[in-house]
Amino acid sequence: MTKQDAKLSERKKESFRIFDDIAPTYDSLNRTLSFGIDVYWRHQIKNNLPQKPNIHVLDLATGTADVPLVLAKAKQVERIQGLDLSEKMVEIGKVKVEKAGLNHRIQLGIGDGCNLPVESESYDATTVSFGIRNFPSTLKGLQEMHRILKPGGRAMVMEFSLPTNFLVKFIYLFYFRHVLPFVGNLFSGHGDAYSYLNKTVEDYPYGEDFLNIMREAGFKTPKAHPLTFGIATLYIGDKEENP
Ligand SMILES: C[S@@+](CC[C@H](N)C(=O)[O-])C[C@H]1O[C@@H](n2cnc3c(N)ncnc32)[C@H](O)[C@@H]1O
Repeated sequence: MTKQDAKLSERKKESFRIFDDIAPTYDSLNRTLSFGIDVYWRHQIKNNLPQKPNIHVLDLATGTADVPLVLAKAKQVERIQGLDLSEKMVEIGKVKVEKAGLNHRIQLGIGDGCNLPVESESYDATTVSFGIRNFPSTLKGLQEMHRILKPGGRAMVMEFSLPTNFLVKFIYLFYFRHVLPFVGNLFSGHGDAYSYLNKTVEDYPYGEDFLNIMREAGFKTPKAHPLTFGIATLYIGDKEENP
């Protein structure tokens, strides 16, 4: 591991503090910087939920509750628990849930994705969107997701990835390296939050590399579904019925 990698990995342990700082502008900057595509990406998680009645979902790194609010639109979802380490993000999430009149179906709280305060085999589905790359250990996060799933349950991870098409990749990287950090740092009022976010994406495993970590965590046949030229990928892993 280079010195720079070690520094980044150390910073991930405290990344939720960055989110505390940028929480007030997080939602609006997300919508603007992604041109609204992030809303479509989160809907793909909802569209791939298990098709059985009264399911309970655990959303990790839930942030301002965008994923729980989308999942609550699915008829088969009875309850959603969202956990995050950033108190400020969760505070904003709670206001949004209250406004949507969904307090009876969505509960938000503080919890570490690498050390879940949750009983084993207690959820039908677990999700994490644009959060796992901030965890100090991707493997530990995935192992925790596998542990808390009931047999036959489903884990879904949405994360940034790199486009395969040369031209799209070139345009995307220019935007990602230069435009996004500049606009993000300026409007969030945080010195380097968006430069940090950008650094966590480029070296992060995606595609087959990410699937290998899912396999190591216990998911036997995980699948990757690239979205929007491969800018983001939805990974789906089912826990075996009878391991
Ligand atoms: C980019 S935001 C994603 C929020 C939300 N899932 C979404 O789709 O908008 C990343 C979130 O990960 C949270 N986070 C970072 N490390 C964490 C950890 N170890 N456990 C739980 N949440 C964590 C941060 O506090 C932040 O809210």
